[in-house]
Amino acid sequence: MEYSKKVMEHFTKPKNMGEIKNPDGIGTVGNPVCGDLMKITIKVSKNKKGKEVIKDVKFKTFGCAAAVATSSMVTELAKGKTLNEAEKITRNDVAESLEGLPPLKMHCSNLASDALKEAIKDYRKKKNK
Ligand code: FES
Repeated sequence: MEYSKKVMEHFTKPKNMGEIKNPDGIGTVGNPVCGDLMKITIKVSKNKKGKEVIKDVKFKTFGCAAAVATSSMVTELAKGKTLNEAEKITRNDVAESLEGLPPLKMHCSNLASDALKEAIKDYRKKKNK
């Protein structure tokens, strides 16, 4: 299996790994086929224009190299974005930013973008309570 340089970079030195204490939103997803798990925690705050932005985001992944790299990349892409922008990050955006993923590993990037979406959903649900 050939991984791009970017994937190896994010796998060996992942960004934003860990868990935010008292997060505003939590997203956990798993892939039943490979059994890999991903958890994303976010902190949300308002920017100067009053828009809600992802102030901080961290991930924990129990999974393959591509799962680690895609989680790391998705946190990088999401940081500083408004919730609406972050929600639009697709698995293709993640894969492209990593200079591509082997076809067999595309599902791993699903986990990353789905976990982020779940975390945003969770935040909105809590806020509207
Ligand atoms: Fe399952 Fe990568 S093999 S997330």
